[in-house]
Amino acid sequence: MRLDRFIQRQLVCSAYTTRHLLAGRKIRVNGMAAADGRQPITAFCRIEVDGKLLQAREPVYLMMHKPRGCVSATTDLKNTTVLDLIDLPAKHALHLAGRLDFNSTGLLLLTNDGNWSRRITLPHQKIPKTYRVETKGEITAAHVKQFAEGIYFAYENLTTRPALLTIHSAHTAELTLFEGRYHQIKRMFGFFQNEVVGLHRLSMGEIVLDDNLAPGEYRHLTAAEIASVQHRPVANGRVAQTGKDPITGSAHPVQRSGNHP
Ligand code: URA
Repeated sequence: MRLDRFIQRQLVCSAYTTRHLLAGRKIRVNGMAAADGRQPITAFCRIEVDGKLLQAREPVYLMMHKPRGCVSATTDLKNTTVLDLIDLPAKHALHLAGRLDFNSTGLLLLTNDGNWSRRITLPHQKIPKTYRVETKGEITAAHVKQFAEGIYFAYENLTTRPALLTIHSAHTAELTLFEGRYHQIKRMFGFFQNEVVGLHRLSMGEIVLDDNLAPGEYRHLTAAEIASVQHRPVANGRVAQTGKDPITGSAHPVQRSGNHP
């Protein structure tokens, strides 16, 4: 947003008054006197007018080890939410950058910075998310092949992006997805009538769940973890679309239709 429009809105004043304030060096952005009303500002700029603070919001970025039996939401009438586990004064301004199901565990990111979380959650960003999966039935080579080819989801009328499944044992595997659809992993294993009995998220992009966090614990992200998301190119459906398959690197991505179960 432009500084002059922000000032007009906040002070309910005219463009003329705003120009007057700027000319008189009365407006400070992050401690510096502003001269140009067209200057872009963010929700996290500190803005003062004539010594009066109009906005001073600090960005917050957290990782949590989500425990089982807790809702990935900020409010819930019945169950404990992940926000209930946070003890910070600014916690009510936080939102989730990607959810986990009630009984799923592992890495959950929370922030008050919508631009940052969008870089993680928008589907075309194709951020890899890695999970440890435990299933009731056996995980076979057929799962690996089908997950790499994609699985048709009739409800959304789409085929899932190629996903990378590495089998660890008959009932455990590691799965990397490049998108996040509703109950995606359970539905993918559901294609094989194979029930998921344990699901734990290990990483999102370059952010890896900290081993020192017990279930229910959280910590602030490091500058490098925050920057790993900020420095990703913003894909708007064109810019960062390389047209390459994220797994094979091939210039011919797998077709996104057909393949009905
Ligand atoms: N896919 C699921 O089915 N559940 C999760 O919690 C995350 C991904």
